[in-house]
Amino acid sequence: MNLILLGPPGAGKGTQAKLLIEHFGIPQISTGDMLRAAVKAGTEMGLKAKACMDSGALVPDEVVIGIVRDRLQEADCGKGFILDGFPRTVPQADALKSTLAELGKELQAVISLEVDIEALVERLTGRRTCRSCGKGFHLRFDPPGTAGVCDACGGELYQRDDDREETIRNRMKVYQEQTAPLVSYYQRDGLLAAIDGMQDIAVVQSDIRAALLEG
Ligand code: AP5
Ligand code: ZN
Repeated sequence: MNLILLGPPGAGKGTQAKLLIEHFGIPQISTGDMLRAAVKAGTEMGLKAKACMDSGALVPDEVVIGIVRDRLQEADCGKGFILDGFPRTVPQADALKSTLAELGKELQAVISLEVDIEALVERLTGRRTCRSCGKGFHLRFDPPGTAGVCDACGGELYQRDDDREETIRNRMKVYQEQTAPLVSYYQRDGLLAAIDGMQDIAVVQSDIRAALLEG
C-alpha cells in the first residue's frame, strides 16, 4: 500500500499516519520529522532548513526531493509507505512520479484531510510532542494522563518552535499558495479520497481505512 496523506498544517496527518503504521505495518515517511532530526543533529542541511522552518516557509524542493528519493529505496519501504507532508509543491509531486516510476512502484491513494482553518490553529497551538518517542498529544483533544509527561514512555512533552500563532498563520498561507493545488493535481490522476478531518481521531481513521478498501 503506497499512500500520501495530504492536508494543511494540523490536519492530523501525523496522528493518522501513526495509526495506519500499526494497521498496515508500513513505515511513515514524514519530511517534517526528517528535517527536524537534521536540525537537532546540526547537519549542514539541518542548519539551512532551520531558517525556512522557523519562518513557516518551505525548505527548497531539491533538498526534500533528495531525502525522499533516498528513503523510498530503503528495504522497509518494500511493502509500502505512508508519505506525510510530502509532496508539498507541484515540482515535488512531479519528482515523486518519476522516482516511483524508476523504482517500479505506484501510488494507490492520496488521502486529503479536510479541516476548517480555525480548528487548525487551535490544534497546532495545543499540540505537544514527546521529546523521547515522538508521540503526539493535544492539551484539549488528546491530553496526556499527567501534564507534561508522555503516557507511552514517560518522556518530556514540548511545543514545536513553529507552533507559535504568527508562524502558524504563515504556514497556512504557504499551504494555500503552494500545496493546495495538489488536491486537483491528484484528483486529475484519479487518486484523491477526500476525508472529513473535523471528526474524532478514531472516526477519521476508520473513514480512511474504508476509503482505502473502496479504492
Ligand atoms: P511538517 O512537520 O510536515 O508540518 P505540517 O505539514 O505543518 O503538519 P503538522 O505536523 O503541523 O500537522 P499534522 O497534519 O501532522 O497534524 P498532527 O497530526 O500533528 O512540516 C514542518 C516544516 O518542515 C514546514 O513548515 C516546512 O518548513 C518543512 N517541510 C516539511 N516537509 C516539507 C516539504 N515536503 N517541502 C518543503 N518543506 C517541508 O495534529 C495536530 C494536533 O491536532 C495534535 O495535537 C493532534 O493531537 C491534534 N489532532 C489531530 N487530529 C485531531 C482530530 N481529529 N480532532 C482533534 N484533534 C486532533
Ligand atoms: Zn514518549
